Amino acid sequence: MEAEEVREYIETLKEKINYHNYRYHVLDDPEIPDAEYDRLFLELKKYEDIYPHFRTPDSPTQKIGASPLEEFNSAVHTIPMLSLDNVFSSKDVSEFDKKIKRFLKREEDLEYIIEAKLDGVAVELIYENGRLKLGSTRGDGINGEDITPNIKTIRSIPLSLLPRFDPYIPKRLEVRGEVFIKVKDFKELNKIRGNSGEKLFANPRNAAAGSLRQLDPKISASRPLDFFAYGIGEIKGRNFKTHDEIFSVLPLWGIKVNSVYRLCKNINDAILYYNEIKETRDDLEFEIDGMVIKVNDLFLQLQLGTISRSPRWAIAYKFPPKQGITKIIDVEFHVGRTGIITPVAIMKPVPLGGVEISRATLHNQDEIEKKDIRTGDTVLVQRAGEVIPEVVSVIISQRTGEEKKIEFPSKCPSCGTETVRELTFYRCPEDSCPGKLKEAIKHFASKRAMNIDGLGDKIIAQIVEKKLVEDVADIYYIAPEKWAELERMAEKSAKNIMASLNRSKKTPYEKVVFALGIRHVGEHLSRVLTEHFTDIQSLSLAKKEDLIEIKEVGHEVAGSLIKYFARRSNISIIEKLKRKGIQLSRGKASPGEGKLSGKTFVFTGTLDSITREKAKSRIEELGGDVKGSVNKKISYVVLGKEPGSKIVKATELGIPLLSEEEFLHLVRE
Ligand code: IVH
Repeated sequence: MEAEEVREYIETLKEKINYHNYRYHVLDDPEIPDAEYDRLFLELKKYEDIYPHFRTPDSPTQKIGASPLEEFNSAVHTIPMLSLDNVFSSKDVSEFDKKIKRFLKREEDLEYIIEAKLDGVAVELIYENGRLKLGSTRGDGINGEDITPNIKTIRSIPLSLLPRFDPYIPKRLEVRGEVFIKVKDFKELNKIRGNSGEKLFANPRNAAAGSLRQLDPKISASRPLDFFAYGIGEIKGRNFKTHDEIFSVLPLWGIKVNSVYRLCKNINDAILYYNEIKETRDDLEFEIDGMVIKVNDLFLQLQLGTISRSPRWAIAYKFPPKQGITKIIDVEFHVGRTGIITPVAIMKPVPLGGVEISRATLHNQDEIEKKDIRTGDTVLVQRAGEVIPEVVSVIISQRTGEEKKIEFPSKCPSCGTETVRELTFYRCPEDSCPGKLKEAIKHFASKRAMNIDGLGDKIIAQIVEKKLVEDVADIYYIAPEKWAELERMAEKSAKNIMASLNRSKKTPYEKVVFALGIRHVGEHLSRVLTEHFTDIQSLSLAKKEDLIEIKEVGHEVAGSLIKYFARRSNISIIEKLKRKGIQLSRGKASPGEGKLSGKTFVFTGTLDSITREKAKSRIEELGGDVKGSVNKKISYVVLGKEPGSKIVKATELGIPLLSEEEFLHLVRE
């Protein structure tokens, strides 16, 4: 090959790899198998090794990590990287809005963007003519540290901007954002560190910070760092008018923007969105500690300016903290529906994430020993992704010597049967254990299962203790006067329970299967199983080899299903449910049959006249399915107001877009 040909070949390889990096890390939708990617990568490396003068600093091969540095150089921010004022109440947020209006001398509503406040490390990326030139930390806001070699190892940060969807790349672009680690990756990272005896990171933020400030870029490269942009600094050669315009263009250049944001026509809408995210933040893949509210108009931002290191045009509306310190008063042992006995710490009440908490799970004996938790200890507790709070660690310096070791009971605390040890757990083997039954009914009646309103813990405890039920199905057989006789049960609420029981008979088959509480069979697997087996009869007769043929079903799940259906008592539950008319087979609009059968939908943005949940159940009623992200198998992408970056991907893959109106038309009978 001639030198020029080699150069061109290297350029094409780089372009291809950059494009596939974008597909993989930004769109989460790889186009080629990993092996093919590796092949391209090795090919590029090979050519660069032979022709080193064609190796450029923005080559994807340079992401592996350069040689260690002695120390970081300092990097000055052209425009200072400011911090934000924090507020904790909607009253303070309204006050922020009023102040801005006073300053701007205007009365009409202001448009705001409200977006997730990521809990990571702030960085600045400088692109010149589309190439990443510098990556730095925030430092004191004016002087940061040059961490370019480390930044270059982050797989979701492009070394060059993609011109493909928006060719007007600025001459200079300063991108500001947060480097973070996803919760799942953080847990995995700590697991690996734990296994090799290394010190654990306290939280994803610390892990991100520790991984980014490494003098050896190879260490950064080995950590699962990720990035979201939240704004820009200096920009030359391109003009933006609003913050939401920035958010819609950055992804086109391959820079990830977090999709948890909304453009609001006034401050009250922003407060509503904050409340929405506050309730659902545990479902996110990354940790956020609040929301940032920003004036959308960039000209107004400029007019508003800054006061002492914080902009006047933005504010951090923080979530109530999820960690707190309290004392363990006692430890109780709780039997779950599968018989597993869990130690539960009874604590001095402490506010966590907006609610008062007085119980936390201690998981199992190994966990107690590992963390050396004792009754009387002062502990750090947190509400993490799980609803039940947990004890993170003991504050050893607060020990008085009065603390007591936690003894595991050898008998089931509910029925007194001798427990059996299974791996890290103790389990009650007794079928008729009332503790297990109470939990089984709780699960059966829960919102995501049969959704039986009014069947709370106290009522469940009474019907079990009064022996009105022997299994979950018996709740449909309790006579009305028996309900009415229960303590704290007025006639009206007895009627209400009867009505909810009746209503629950219409619960779709897949939820009924979930409600049965078969070990290892959660919501997703129930859906999968009911798609494969049209009724409970065929599911109950399925052989292990039929079950493991299903992609999502492994040996453990298959074994658990076989065990469940082999028990006479469970078959009797199913018979009893059947007799009361509970749906144990696919209805008429199950997958494969309705008008939208085989069609998959993805939503982006806010729908005006229907909630997402309603829209989802409408699609499901008609036999279709709703997915969370866009890939080439999706049939339609439905656009609400302020659609997110999914639109980019949909357009790229040529998936038909539907307006809200078109969508409503489609799902109308
Ligand atoms: S805007 C001038 N937006 O919070 C406005 N910051 O307390 C500067 N942060 O240093 C920041 N998510 O590290 C902004 N969506 C977001 C953010 C965000 C996280 C961090 C950032 C900043 C700190 C300010």
